[in-house]
Order: sequence, then C-alpha cells, then structure tokens
Amino acid sequence: MIEQHKPGVDIAAAVRLLRAGKTVAFPTETVYGLGADAANPAAVRRIFELKGRPANHPLIVHLPSAESLTAWARDIPEQAWLLAERFWPGPLTLILPRHPAVPLEVTGGQESIGLRVPDHPLALELLRHFDGGLAAPSANRFGRISPTCAAHVRDELGEQVEMVLDGGPCRVGLESTIVSLIGPRPCLLRPGQISIAEIAEVLGCKLEIPQSSPTIRAPGLLASHYAPKTPLILRPASALCSWLKIMRERGCRVAVMALTPPQTSSEPAARVDRIPMPLQPQEYARELYASLRRLDAGGFDYICAEKPPATKEWLAVHDRLNRAAITPENSFIAGETT
Ligand code: TXA
Ligand code: MG
Repeated sequence: MIEQHKPGVDIAAAVRLLRAGKTVAFPTETVYGLGADAANPAAVRRIFELKGRPANHPLIVHLPSAESLTAWARDIPEQAWLLAERFWPGPLTLILPRHPAVPLEVTGGQESIGLRVPDHPLALELLRHFDGGLAAPSANRFGRISPTCAAHVRDELGEQVEMVLDGGPCRVGLESTIVSLIGPRPCLLRPGQISIAEIAEVLGCKLEIPQSSPTIRAPGLLASHYAPKTPLILRPASALCSWLKIMRERGCRVAVMALTPPQTSSEPAARVDRIPMPLQPQEYARELYASLRRLDAGGFDYICAEKPPATKEWLAVHDRLNRAAITPENSFIAGETT
C-alpha cells in the first residue's frame, strides 16, 4: 500500500519512472538527490548527462536499509556494520569495496562504492517501494550549489528531470559525511553533520584525514565545488571593515553573510546588503546553500561570508565555504581540528 502525500508527490508514479530508466529527483535530509536505478547503466549515464558531470566521478547509491549492503558491497568490515547501526538512516556515506554486480558506471570505474541510507520519510518510502538501490548525486549542475528544496532542483535542471518529489526544505542542508573503509585505517573524505568525534567514538580509533589524493575522486579533493556564480569572498570579522572600504572605493555592490553586528562608525552602509546568518553551526548549515543561491541571483559584484569560528562544530561549514570561495583561505583545515 502506497501512502498518500501532499499533491504532487506520487510515489507510485516515481517508481514507475525509475523502473523505466528515467530520473526522479527526491529529497533527503541533507540535500536533494537526482535519482536513477543504480542497476541500470543507461539510467545512470543519464544522471551524468543531466548534471554535466565527468563520467569518472563516482555516485552514491541510496539504499532502503543496511540489510541491502551485501548486494552492493563485498568484504564488508565490522566497522561498516557498527557505523550503519549507529547512524543509518542518516547523513553518513560509507565507501566500501564494490560488489562485482554493481555497474562500473555508478562507481566511475572504481573498485569502491559509496552507500548510504537517507533519513527522510519520502526518500525511504521511495526506496522501499522501488526495492533496489538509487544512484543519486546532489541534483545540481556539476560544481554548483546543492539544492535544498524542490524549487532549487527545477532551477538547476529545468524540465530535463522527469519528476521532482517535493519533500520540503532539507533538514541538514549540507551533504553527508563520507567515510572510506577501504584503506588500512578509516578515512574522512568529506566532513558533514555527523562529526569526526562521533564516528571515532563508534569505531574506537582515530580517523585519517587526507589533504589530497590523486587516486580518490571525492569532492573534498576538488579545488572548486559548491560555488555560486557571483565571486564569494571569505573574511574574518576583523578584516571586514577594511575590505568593505575598498569595495566602496571601487563602486562595488556587495552582500555580506554576517555573524556579527555592523561596526556602524566605520562600515559604509551604501551598496552593502547585510544578511544576518544563524550563529549556531547546524542552523547556519541548513541555510547556507539557500542563502548563497538567493544572493547569487541578487546582482551583487561580490558575496562576502564572514568567517565562522574556527571550532570543530563548524568544520563542515568551513569546508563548503572554502570550496565555494574564489580564493580558498585554508587557514582552517580539517587536520587542525582533530
Ligand atoms: O548527502 C549526500 O551525500 C547527497 C545526497 C543526495 O545523498 N549526495 C551527494 O552526492 O552529495 P554527490 O554525488 O553530489 O557527492 C558525493 C560524492 C561524490 O563527489 C564522490 O566523489 C564521492 O561522493 N564518492 C562517491 N563514491 C565514491 C567512491 N567510491 N570513492 C570515493 N568517493 C566517492
Ligand atoms: Mg554534489
């Protein structure tokens, strides 16, 4: 029996489309995904086409439950079951050795595979009724900001995606934490809401945090990602005033994603739009992409994000801001926070 959702959400129709090799965008707790049948190479190729994504860039396969892991991965270590038990459904992706039956199209030709069980009622219902794995990258054009509501997906992909399931705004707002269990030690490939400390606690050991690797194709290892079209600058609060003065001299119109109140005495008000951002990291994360998207459409010469505090809680936000910024200021890097 298929549950009824608000108008426009038709799980049965979505499942029919997916079985016919079409794409369906669906909500997850992190961001919206562009889904297709992971067992159908032609359907998976369609994802790459729609996103404009290089074919060697692997996709995450979404599963209805941890029980289906064995159909998609082999030599599954005990650590994977421990993490799955603790964090699934949830915003954690595990990289494991690929099951031989998995099409190489999904894994970008690699012998490993990214798997997760998303924590969103619509996604889970879709997966249960589909009864298979859904390959689903974030439903944006390659290199652009991930969508955190259904309207963003349409803005990105237009009518090319056959169906968009509207599950409202995403609760987490940043992509899942990615942990690789392929090498000798568990390795963090992308920070997310589930923290290094939480994972290390379950595993009972430290996580490795690579700075770069030519052999692993993960988003953390791309110089620019998640970027708005308007140049994004990162500035600590202490340097904001002087930067705004330069912008004023140049006649630039700027938007500031602010964490502190304006210094009214010295900060020029004209041609600066100040957008107060949440002071809590999880709330900031939830709003980040929607804010960037809105400001990107605002006709600004620059967007300036005030740098959040250099604490562990802000790791995932720093990671995305650094990648979106035109001059990455990597003073706060993953390795410094462990
Ligand atoms: O929260 C998320 O993870 C969202 C939602 C839709 O689930 N998905 C997402 O997918 O962010 P995507 O494709 O935009 O980013 C996933 C990243 C890819 O950039 C890819 O490099 C990495 O996961 N990845 C996937 N499989 C991998 C593998 N076998 N080895 C290393 N990295 C992998
Ligand atoms: Mg993405």
